[in-house]
Amino acid sequence: MKVLLVGATRGMGRSLARLMAERGDRLFLLGRDPDSLEATAADLIARGAPSPVGTALCDLEQSSGFESALDAAWLALEGVDVVVVTAGLFGTQEALEADAEFRQKVLAVDFANTIELCEQVRPRMLADEGGTLCVFSSVAGDRARKKVVLYGAAKAGLSRYLEGLDLTCREDGLRTVLIKPGFVRTDMTAELDEPPFAAGPDEAARAALRAIDRGTPVAYVPPVWGLVMLIIRWLPTWVLRRTNF
Ligand SMILES: NC(=O)c1ccc[n+]([C@@H]2O[C@H](COP(=O)([O-])OP(=O)(O)OC[C@H]3O[C@@H](n4cnc5c(N)ncnc54)[C@H](OP(=O)(O)O)[C@@H]3O)[C@@H](O)[C@H]2O)c1
Repeated sequence: MKVLLVGATRGMGRSLARLMAERGDRLFLLGRDPDSLEATAADLIARGAPSPVGTALCDLEQSSGFESALDAAWLALEGVDVVVVTAGLFGTQEALEADAEFRQKVLAVDFANTIELCEQVRPRMLADEGGTLCVFSSVAGDRARKKVVLYGAAKAGLSRYLEGLDLTCREDGLRTVLIKPGFVRTDMTAELDEPPFAAGPDEAARAALRAIDRGTPVAYVPPVWGLVMLIIRWLPTWVLRRTNF
């Protein structure tokens, strides 16, 4: 497979890229930091990815750079079979409420600009007669909860968008794969209390790769979070008002 990854420098994106490298997929990386991109590309080649692993700068805060970054990837790989977007930002509810600039950044990166990136991928893949677009949203988007009102709202919007693309584009060959991680131990969650069912990034990445290969429209990673969220979705609102999770 020819795979374009946005967010492979850390966390679940790095684990997923490593799994793809080990099976010999051709990779291209987009990210915001040139040194991290180069180090990640070298690591992936050492793990089996065909050389070169190309890179280009793409900051999800700056949608003006998306077109040239995607051009570079499409040119280098001569077409792309799979695009994976794991890049994203998290802020606690307290931090997001307290800081308007940070709040606007997280909402832009996790919602508006991720969608804009997907909108620029969509016509390219449809012109190539299809492909797979995999985007990491979150279980936080499944149901409003006190601790993730703002982050959850961004991820809810992102999830709904991916569901919509599935409705409009799957028959034309664009397969969307919406990944909903539960709590996964990465830099993003390092400062948070660990809930039950927390998993490592490799375990989450293995489940995500299965979903990508199968073209599963929506996948909870690890899968147990599907059951957890089924229960949380059915909780009465008064319970969510009185609890603090
Ligand atoms: N970890 C969890 O428990 C959890 C749960 C639910 C959903 N998620 C979602 O899953 C995805 C991956 O999470 P993770 O825990 O693996 O995150 P992570 O370890 O914090 O890694 C985040 C990645 O996003 C990149 N990134 C951040 N801001 C960017 C920007 N403005 N432009 C380009 N790249 C940017 C980072 O690049 P740099 O290396 O340059 O910083 C890094 O590669 C995210 O969308 C997250 O919201 C995570």
